[in-house]
Amino acid sequence: MADKVVLAYSGGLDTSAAIRWLKERYGFDVITVTVDVGGVRDLPAIRDKALKVGATKALVKDARKEFVEHFVFPALQADAIYEGQYPLATALARPLMARLLVEVAQEEEASAVAHGCTGKGNDQVRFEVSIHSLAPDLKVVAPAREWGMTREQTIGYAQRHGIPVPVTVASPYSVDENLWGRSIECGVLEDPWAEPPEDAFAWTKSPSEAPDKPEYVEIDFDRGIPVALDGREMDGVSLLQRLNEMAGGHGVGRIDHVENRLVGIKSREIYEAPAATVLLRAHQAMEAMTLSRDQLRFKQKVAMEYADLIYNGLWFTPLRRDMAAYVQSSQRFVTGTVRVKLLKGNCVVAGRKSPFSLYSHGLATYAQGDQFDQSASPGFIHIWGLPVRTQAQIQPGEAEGGSKSK
Ligand code: ARG
Repeated sequence: MADKVVLAYSGGLDTSAAIRWLKERYGFDVITVTVDVGGVRDLPAIRDKALKVGATKALVKDARKEFVEHFVFPALQADAIYEGQYPLATALARPLMARLLVEVAQEEEASAVAHGCTGKGNDQVRFEVSIHSLAPDLKVVAPAREWGMTREQTIGYAQRHGIPVPVTVASPYSVDENLWGRSIECGVLEDPWAEPPEDAFAWTKSPSEAPDKPEYVEIDFDRGIPVALDGREMDGVSLLQRLNEMAGGHGVGRIDHVENRLVGIKSREIYEAPAATVLLRAHQAMEAMTLSRDQLRFKQKVAMEYADLIYNGLWFTPLRRDMAAYVQSSQRFVTGTVRVKLLKGNCVVAGRKSPFSLYSHGLATYAQGDQFDQSASPGFIHIWGLPVRTQAQIQPGEAEGGSKSK
């Protein structure tokens, strides 16, 4: 009996060619796993294609709920955004896919797993580090990294072996998508000076063509998790779908990022992430109301570390687990409602309220009912400014760059 390999299968050109190549090159029986994390794809057709191309078994896993609840929402609670721009859609899906690959490999007693990543990107790192964290002895094969074929040669290989070449190959772009966002690379986008053409976008209306009338949406958070839109409770998957459509219709969520890949390359990436953009902004607005200044400051540092860790393929690590525990704990009072305005590519927080709000009108107001004891301020300033005054007396002129000192 031939050894089995479990291949992460998207239905695209590379992973289809890989089915054939894994049989030819290593004599494997190939079992494909297609993971549904909310990309818009025809799953039954992908399954049929895998079998037609030569897989011995083709599995499809609906992992949308798990993706949203165990990967996306924890990242949202953390406010994890890579380099201040990228909400990490692809980076969050890879560890989940890796885990499903490992599970199937164990069930099927396969000796290896395979993925279609090239040797230049982050995804190979995320897959392999995750797989080895979960199953240190499992072999990993990366056909597209090994075979050394150009895109044209891969098309030729596919044609010679009767593998249908998808029409999307005609598209100049390389796309990956799930419920948290869509990434677009290649073609003219590789010129960082070139503005992305409209045909790069699929989820967002051009802001200039979006409606002139603003649309408001109210998001309810329960301990940092969005649970309702405009008062209607929804499961996470439906909520993201709805918000992607709604905000995308207003041109919200386009991101143009020259990002630093883990492998040392700078790459120009275009993203569409309407729901992620709205939710991250709304979540931060909720936290601004319900966390203290010091909690917020500390959490921002964690957010950056957490985002780097996700981006760099370290999801299945004890450090991630520790950070997740902190983030979870930080959300105890992040409950309430944020009102967001969508208008021509912009998403602006228009209002927020929470039963645990630390905002005190009595303290903040300049009108009637002021509860702030202004007579206490001089004493506060006296102590706060003490070291500054002392230094100014002993080292005069220092504060202005020494221009006035003798
Ligand atoms: N640059 C993004 C990341 O590293 C998107 C990667 C998209 N992956 C892909 N295979 N098209 O997360």
